[in-house]
Amino acid sequence: MKESDRSGFGSRFGAILAMVGSAVGLGNIWRFPYLVGENGGGAFILIYIVFSILISLPVFCAEVIIGRRGRASAVGAFRNLAPGSKWHLAGYLSILAVFLILSFYSVVGGWSIKYLVDSAMLKFSAGADADFSELFSSFSTATWSPLIYMLVFILINSAVVILGVKNGIERFSKWMMPLLFLLILILVVRSACLPGAGVGYNYLFHADFTKINSDTLMAALGQSFFSMSLGMGAMIIYGSYVSRKDSIASHAVVTLSLDTLFAILAACAIMPAVFSFGLQPNQGPGLVFVTLPYLFSNMPLGTIVAIFFFISLLLAAISSAISLLEVMTSFLIEEFHLSRRQAVTICIAIQVVFGTLCSFSLQAGSPLKLAGLSLFDLFDKVSSDYVMTIGALLTVIFVGWKIKRSDYLDEMTSGGAVHLPRWAAEVIYWLIKVVAPLAILAILIL
Ligand code: PFF
Repeated sequence: MKESDRSGFGSRFGAILAMVGSAVGLGNIWRFPYLVGENGGGAFILIYIVFSILISLPVFCAEVIIGRRGRASAVGAFRNLAPGSKWHLAGYLSILAVFLILSFYSVVGGWSIKYLVDSAMLKFSAGADADFSELFSSFSTATWSPLIYMLVFILINSAVVILGVKNGIERFSKWMMPLLFLLILILVVRSACLPGAGVGYNYLFHADFTKINSDTLMAALGQSFFSMSLGMGAMIIYGSYVSRKDSIASHAVVTLSLDTLFAILAACAIMPAVFSFGLQPNQGPGLVFVTLPYLFSNMPLGTIVAIFFFISLLLAAISSAISLLEVMTSFLIEEFHLSRRQAVTICIAIQVVFGTLCSFSLQAGSPLKLAGLSLFDLFDKVSSDYVMTIGALLTVIFVGWKIKRSDYLDEMTSGGAVHLPRWAAEVIYWLIKVVAPLAILAILIL
């Protein structure tokens, strides 16, 4: 694709919101709270924040540098910056990660639509005396209905991506992210008013380091990459649409801050409710879909809050899934010279096939299991714990050791147009070159 063909983001604000949109997703609202619950609460959050600042922030800058300088999707950008080398294989790794994540992401996206429909049908209205745990497990392990909702989710994302970067992705993010923030705030306030909410806060903000082991470190790092959309080319492709005049460091800081804030707010909306209703915090992926219906059915105006919540979850899921889809779409457009519509159609087919397998793997007695894990869990674990981590490692090594330091500085200061204090540029440089690669390697080896 020629540079003049790139339809980039229309404004700095739009670019930031699209990046925040990619970062804030199911990872924040669905995954973060249950990982906190499984990994011992406050200590996990603390480690997560330290990793995000010391490792994810430099990885984010490195990805945007590669995208904006390489002016292409992951494979093309590595190829443009290191012609004749094997670095473009790192780009292929990101395509693999995207494909794994989109498969289970679409299934969970479908669940959000189903729960939105259920809320509108008053299934979580005050006094609804249902066994929500049973309701969730019978729905998520059914054959057809999860697939139909998954398909609807896939088609919505595809429609946004077909509209293109400025008219689809940027416009969607600009309107929906502020709305999402407002909705989450309403839930946090509601949750805080529950009797016994304090126990939930204590769980979230009291650090018990005896629970920390190497698995926790891996989970925290994997979650940080997952949440910031790193290690799979999403920030490379979005970086390639970012204007030359924008400051990469400020995009990184804003995205990281808002992403972390959203994750903590989501945990503050959910954990107090978990404890208030005497539920267990370590229920895994079902946490949001089992716990929150209890909360909704036990509060005044619960139906309206439920509708708001599942709209938020859906918006967050879409704004992230479109960035994943854009990685695959732009790759197909650039490498195979397809039209956007053709590329998206192929992506739809891939998502339907692998999403279906993921959904089927959740059924009792399904043969779609490996090493005791369903395909769904396997894709989730392999992508965030390994593929993304290796992708992120390669990204920082590339920018720290392969790209010239002057090119790094040129990108970070936009050729002198952006004021970035010298010390900040230096700190980020050493984080990219030494701290992040060593830390990622150490955690991988552990
Ligand atoms: N960051 C998204 C979330 O937290 O749900 C997930 C994600 C989107 C991961 C895009 C990776 C990606 F490229």
